[in-house]
Amino acid sequence: MLLFAIITSCKKAGPISVESPDKANSITFQLTESGEPVYTVSHGEEVIIAESKMGFDLKDQETLSSGFSILGTELNAINETWEMPWGEQREVVNHGNELVVMLEENTTPNRKLNVYFRAYDDGIAFRYEFPEQEGVDSLTIMDENTEFQLTGDHMAWWIPGDWDIYEHLYNTTKVSEIDALSKRDHPNLKQTTIPENAVNTPVTMRMDSGTHLSFHEANLTDYSGMTLKVDPQSLKLTSELVGSARRGYKVKRTLPFKTPWRTIQIADNAADLIESNLIVNLNEPNKLGDVSWFEPQKYMGIWWEMHVGTSTWDYAGSQDMNTFTKNTKPHGNHGATTENTKRYIDFAAKNNIKGILVEGWNTGWERWIGFEDREGVFDFITPYPDYDLKEVVRYGKEKGVDIIMHHETSAAPRTYEQQLDTAYALMKDLGIHSVKTGYVGKIIPNGEYHHGQWMVNHYRKVLETAAQYDIAINAHEPIKATGIRRTYPNAISREGLRGQEFNAWAIEGGNPPEHLPIVAFTRMLAGPIDFTPGVFEIDLPGKPENQVNTTLAQQLALFVVIYSPIQMACDFPENYEGQPAFQFIRDVGVDWEQTKVLNGEVGDFVTIAREERETGNWFVGGITDENAREISLSFDFLPEGQSYNAIIYKDGPDAHYKDNPTAVSIEEMEINTTTSLTLNLAEGGGFAISLIKSE
Ligand code: NOJ
Ligand code: CA
Repeated sequence: MLLFAIITSCKKAGPISVESPDKANSITFQLTESGEPVYTVSHGEEVIIAESKMGFDLKDQETLSSGFSILGTELNAINETWEMPWGEQREVVNHGNELVVMLEENTTPNRKLNVYFRAYDDGIAFRYEFPEQEGVDSLTIMDENTEFQLTGDHMAWWIPGDWDIYEHLYNTTKVSEIDALSKRDHPNLKQTTIPENAVNTPVTMRMDSGTHLSFHEANLTDYSGMTLKVDPQSLKLTSELVGSARRGYKVKRTLPFKTPWRTIQIADNAADLIESNLIVNLNEPNKLGDVSWFEPQKYMGIWWEMHVGTSTWDYAGSQDMNTFTKNTKPHGNHGATTENTKRYIDFAAKNNIKGILVEGWNTGWERWIGFEDREGVFDFITPYPDYDLKEVVRYGKEKGVDIIMHHETSAAPRTYEQQLDTAYALMKDLGIHSVKTGYVGKIIPNGEYHHGQWMVNHYRKVLETAAQYDIAINAHEPIKATGIRRTYPNAISREGLRGQEFNAWAIEGGNPPEHLPIVAFTRMLAGPIDFTPGVFEIDLPGKPENQVNTTLAQQLALFVVIYSPIQMACDFPENYEGQPAFQFIRDVGVDWEQTKVLNGEVGDFVTIAREERETGNWFVGGITDENAREISLSFDFLPEGQSYNAIIYKDGPDAHYKDNPTAVSIEEMEINTTTSLTLNLAEGGGFAISLIKSE
């Protein structure tokens, strides 16, 4: 009997492989002698992931990681083309091969586990399924132990595996030098929780061969976010799920269920990483149907003023951004007034800007930060006395400008959940179709973290409820993007990185010039970013020691480089008035037929060209880090036989992000598919080009 069992399990132990359609990427699965599931990943001849184990620690059960045999396998081909309602491109090709491996333990209770592997031309993915099985209704996961055994000491671009906040600066080190614990107790982040030497995803790496990898996850649903624990000696990454000090476990689910996909985007060069559609392709199709009630748009708003400190969110002026950054005196200057909003609406209406965000319109901001008890502080329906919500909505409509709602929850999600229906019903009544949400601070109840299962479910509940009221969500302090926007297109954008606001606060001197050339190849691989570009007054008002660490030309380029279907021009109307460079912001599109990444190196530079839907106009943006550089551009991506009136906005000859950031030169010329150009980018600089079809 025993002999028979061994022979059977050996016979059924693999290896079994699945290849991408272009055969470049392959995954091989097998069981070791002791029945442990292991996998490897190759890219051509190159081994990307050496033998790596998979398994789970479960509450009140033996670890689920060995003693398996293969019950059966299945191969499926995936080949479909789907359309994004708005996005970096209209059509997305989802073409890959799938291997399903069904495992069962050899001894009682003979637990079952299925693994789905996918091989695509732009990377690989796998997920686990806990199928229905006798006598098991639910599972409590104490740890997921998915390993990724790297094959070299790659260069890595990483932020710490923080359970509460993604707003860290990116670090550029070898994997062996990753030291996430040194990022603990950051003095200027509202909360950090970094229990392990782990990194957050997407984490991007470059192998010595030049192959680029980015590790992330797709379809994070009813599960905890995954960080990757780093063993600097063995160069092994292991999944470390976000936990809960309140619940004492990582994930609880009823059976059957599938985990999120563990993904590795693989590309021969950095630019191709950005063109990858792996993350959205691993999500389910649109569940909302017609979402034409939302239109991609540029917006402005009562926002930057609070961050630079010229006005406050609260009516009394007892709290502003300085309250938590510096403890300086409040100035009693409420930003969200009817009059101020109308001033923004007037400017927007004249300048092809379709939305106005108003923060600090509702009561509660006197107690939004610096208090333990923040339950019940905000109600999301009661305006301050100097803000006439109905009137600004009416005024905006008259001028063709939408008001964008703002719901700061101050990390009290239970208060928000109680009010979702009331708040969204008010918005629906007023014809408001999008809301920016916020979760600043430590989550209440204590012991929950922004990125754990409990909050993942909260963020999803918000999306689903909003969808019922035709409302789109732009979440700040969000859960990371994992391609859910395919299923719920009302997940239009999110923060989840160190945004422009850090430049206003000038914490640690603001974001360094390399920040966005890293973000384009890391955070942006996850999905749209509400970064809020467009600062023209680079030396910030009333803050002589602070400035934004880019040139003005780079601020323009960001409208193209950073993808989001909502794109804020964050500066004040008076800073745009009379500025020739503002023409680019007026012209630039927000919704794309196709995207081409023309060049780039992680942390150094990147150039992206996007074709606007409907008009067929193209926009190109390029940015560099602290180094000046020359970029050669060929316009061979343009269709033959079509000519474009181009306006080129580039750094002036002596531009420099530090001492001459606003020097821009603007040039007009005709461009077609045969044109090539050489552009000089200043230190911290960039360029933006609009290509408007000529008759
Ligand atoms: C943090 C957000 O990132 C920022 O955009 C917002 O203005 C404040 N929270 C207040 O909600
Ligand atoms: Ca933030």
